[in-house]
Amino acid sequence: MKKILVTGGLGFIGSHTVVELQNEGFEVVIIDDLSNSSLDVLDGISSITGITPKFEKIDIKEKGKVQTFFSDHKDIIGVIHFAASKAVGESVLKPLHYYENNLNTLVYILQEVVGLPSSNFIFSSSCTVYGQAEHMPITESAPVQAAESPYGNTKQIGEEIINDVCKVDSNLQAISLRYFNPIGAHPSAKIGELPLGVPQNLVPYITQTAAGLRDCLSVFGNDYATSDGTCVRDYIHVVDLAKAHVVALKRLLEGDNRSNFETFNIGTGIGSSVLEVIKSFENVSGQSLNYKFAPRREGDVTEAYADTKKANDILGWQSQLTLDDAMLSAWNWEKNIRNIK
Ligand code: WQD
Repeated sequence: MKKILVTGGLGFIGSHTVVELQNEGFEVVIIDDLSNSSLDVLDGISSITGITPKFEKIDIKEKGKVQTFFSDHKDIIGVIHFAASKAVGESVLKPLHYYENNLNTLVYILQEVVGLPSSNFIFSSSCTVYGQAEHMPITESAPVQAAESPYGNTKQIGEEIINDVCKVDSNLQAISLRYFNPIGAHPSAKIGELPLGVPQNLVPYITQTAAGLRDCLSVFGNDYATSDGTCVRDYIHVVDLAKAHVVALKRLLEGDNRSNFETFNIGTGIGSSVLEVIKSFENVSGQSLNYKFAPRREGDVTEAYADTKKANDILGWQSQLTLDDAMLSAWNWEKNIRNIK
């Protein structure tokens, strides 16, 4: 079987990607430190695909553990690297944790990947590398701007590290996927987004408010230069995003990549405001949402949505699911984990 390592494979995007890899016949090995996920996710994955992926609990900040893992798995033909801390606000308060957990670990993984007979590497990046882009929609050639947070900086530096290695080691074949805003859950409602503590992101806060876990959603700012005054983002269904990883991996395995370091924006190409997301939720759930306007949140950009031409025409991937599909799947997931009928 074609064995693929997925680091952070029990996380939100990682778990959905494992499902799509298994659907495509890949053998998946997951390493995860369970710092922001749980073993229940493994049951969720196997309940969907009927296949329980191999799992090893490893803290990849421990270089020796990473080396031992790879010496035990020399038949890995590709690595999809999700494992990282990803809370923007937290990264401002704990920069050293973010630089250690997101960058030291990337170096340790890459040091092993380059030694594999088949060094195919997919990196989880983010539209945060663009900051507030000048032009919409955002293309991959938009300038990478000074990061607004240590989290965003680790994504920028991460891409630079990979690019520097690719320049001197043609054995390493890499693709960086710059996600816009991943939302939603698997249609089975057996896996989804499970933020620890108070959700920082919009959609889990919406579904937790509707489920009664939160009193009221605060809409951070309604005085932005947008159609309705609230920020605009490109909300992509996590299943579409997961499938993009499989397409990118196959591109490398089949040698279709045009250089050994490529970047692609992964979004829908559609900008939606916060109020439009709320309206979509109310439409699909049949519930009105309790929300109020609140002051702007530090660090938010006014709008960000993807130019998906390169992903569509070159990568050969196109999002298929709508905002309503994503909001309904998010709500079904929330109802499932809260035992709401
Ligand atoms: C979306 C919009 C908020 C919460 C972040 C990371 C990005 C990526 C996705 C990892 C904004 C508004 C939010 C709330 C609100 N993560 N909002 N009330 O900030 O666009 O992107 O998550 O890669 O890197 O930066 O997503 O969901 O936090 O916010 O009004 O309670 O919703 O102001 O306009 P964001 P988000």
